[in-house]
Amino acid sequence: MRKILVTSALPYANAPLHIGHIVEYTQTDIWARFQKMRGNRCWYICADDAHGTPIMLHARQKGIPPEELIRQMSEEHQADFRDFRIGFDNYHSTHSEENRELAELIYQRNLEAGHIVARTITQLYDPQEGMFLPDRFIKGECPKCGAADQYGDSCEVCGATYSPTELKNPYSAVSGAKPIEKETEHLFFRLQDFEEMLREWTRGGHLQPEVANKLDEWFEAGLREWDISRDAPYFGFEIPGHPGKYFYVWLDAPIGYMASFKNFCGKQGLDFDEYWAEGSDAELFHFIGKDIIYFHALFWPAMLHGAGFRKPTTIHAHGFLTVNGQKMSKSRGSFIKARTYLEHLNPEYLRYYFAAKLGAGVDDIDLNLEDFVQRVNSDLVGKVVNIASRNAGFITKRFGGRLSTELAEPALFDEFVAAGDSIAGHYEKREFSRAVREIMKLADRANQYIDEKEPWVVAKQEGRDRELQDICSMGINLFKVLIGYLRPILPGTAEASEAFLQIEPQQWSDIATPLLDHEIGKFKPLMTRVDPKKVEAMVEASKEDMTAKPQKEEAKKEAATSTIEYEEFAKVDLRIARIARAELVEGADKLLRLTLDLGNGETRNVFAGIKAAYPEPEKLEGRLTVMVANLAPRKMKFGVSEGMVLAAGPGGKEIYLLSPDEGAQPGMKVK
Ligand code: MSP
Ligand code: ZN
Repeated sequence: MRKILVTSALPYANAPLHIGHIVEYTQTDIWARFQKMRGNRCWYICADDAHGTPIMLHARQKGIPPEELIRQMSEEHQADFRDFRIGFDNYHSTHSEENRELAELIYQRNLEAGHIVARTITQLYDPQEGMFLPDRFIKGECPKCGAADQYGDSCEVCGATYSPTELKNPYSAVSGAKPIEKETEHLFFRLQDFEEMLREWTRGGHLQPEVANKLDEWFEAGLREWDISRDAPYFGFEIPGHPGKYFYVWLDAPIGYMASFKNFCGKQGLDFDEYWAEGSDAELFHFIGKDIIYFHALFWPAMLHGAGFRKPTTIHAHGFLTVNGQKMSKSRGSFIKARTYLEHLNPEYLRYYFAAKLGAGVDDIDLNLEDFVQRVNSDLVGKVVNIASRNAGFITKRFGGRLSTELAEPALFDEFVAAGDSIAGHYEKREFSRAVREIMKLADRANQYIDEKEPWVVAKQEGRDRELQDICSMGINLFKVLIGYLRPILPGTAEASEAFLQIEPQQWSDIATPLLDHEIGKFKPLMTRVDPKKVEAMVEASKEDMTAKPQKEEAKKEAATSTIEYEEFAKVDLRIARIARAELVEGADKLLRLTLDLGNGETRNVFAGIKAAYPEPEKLEGRLTVMVANLAPRKMKFGVSEGMVLAAGPGGKEIYLLSPDEGAQPGMKVK
């Protein structure tokens, strides 16, 4: 039996959870539930991350003490987690006595070992508020491109990074005052002391290969001292021996993993050292998003090492959630709060959809709302739950709920059981999409069995009772295996199924045991279809949510370009196209229908909203332009659009199609 301590990143006690967060907590929860089903001793631990300037200012803005804000947030977070069936064994807070003690201990030990030094630095200071300003709370004009209202660390328009003192015409985002430069003493953690250990550790199989590669870039850039202190006013822990100085939130945040576990040990009588002492034989597993790798894969192991604690066994980073292929956005209604989702839809749908998309890598995952409806309905309702509903009625009505004493097709049942090892292997390696694919293949096989045996025909024929009972019992047994395999993903549906089957919660080893001569309960629908209207309503409700925020700020943020990796750009297949035909579309007041010639006889039908700019479409015929050739086809009211043409301009009459220089030919790739 393995001993496993598993964590998800601690959500900031500053804002409600959104469905992007739910990706991470679902991923971790599935893995933890799987480990528990396997009979391992596994604890899933989390907490609210309660410290830092944003939380302090947020509380001030609401006119409540920070303690009150974090209490409310923690309640909200925990209600969301509970309703998404995230099964933490303990949920605590970084603003806790356990965390204060552990943070002081880790600091003290690193200090004694010479890994912490004090230095005087110059920082921007808000004279009106009497506080030093974190980079994010200083705004001004970008020193590179001159864009207004940029943050103190980077420009959202041109992507430049700089230090806040370089901003032109800086102002404090707290008071609007012009910041002044002021000296202050800070404490630094000497990350470079740990270079050798970290180089070895990051190559020691604790990280995904792509993450380890990314870290190499950081090693090449050189490890630098890390500023671990902040000046008052700050919401956090005061540093012993340094009145008016506080631990930076990212110092005590990961220590919150330990603190929550310590709190749990107190309740459960577990031995803290068994899990955290150097040389511990327990596994320590952190699930995190790709944005916080630096903190977890460099600072955290270094801090632990410097203080004589064990280091993580595995850090698993996941990608970010996009909705309909784009960053979550308040104006599009795709910035969906966890609570808003829950008010409209069943959490099991989303857990399943995420599982079906999650692999072991750090790629972003996309929630396409149309695909979501289609996939959940066809897989879960159409395939899995359907098997139970197709068979349960006959067993209840005709056989008093009793299943046959023998399996009609033991070989088929064995096939289902035999798939268990490979499915378990996928769960273990966080290849959930592969596990789902294999389970759905089995579900297809089970439905095929029922289709072939046609119990509804057998039921009408006299003298075939025994056969009917055998077929339906077989169907129910196949369902039991499937729901067992899906249990980490669908804890709610599994629980309802277990009640219907009248069995104990299935452990992995129970899956192989068929139900024979056993009485099942009455079938109640285990899951209803996703109603697309409810999805729409959820999107609408998410749009309304944004009235709370100044719309201009949001729009500005969205318009701002963030940088992308070359690989992302390379995914877009841009090609030269000849507009072979351009025509008005009956009944559409903005669209033109374009027939685009890509050379070699390949043509595409594209609807483009450019009628106002090109009221005489035939004039476009024959000219060359640029199109996105690998855009997923989209069904529109007037037909299917198979791509997109590129144009510039604000819209309406002011739209200008792009044209290549002379010499370009239809079909050429644009690079
Ligand atoms: N408080 C820090 C973590 C401290 S851990 C010692 C933090 N909090 S957070 O609330 O911003 O994010 C919590 C987790 O959710 C992070 O792992 C983050 O990567 C993840 N996600 C936040 N937005 C996300 C998406 N849109 N998509 C996927 N995961 C996302 O970071
Ligand atoms: Zn700029």
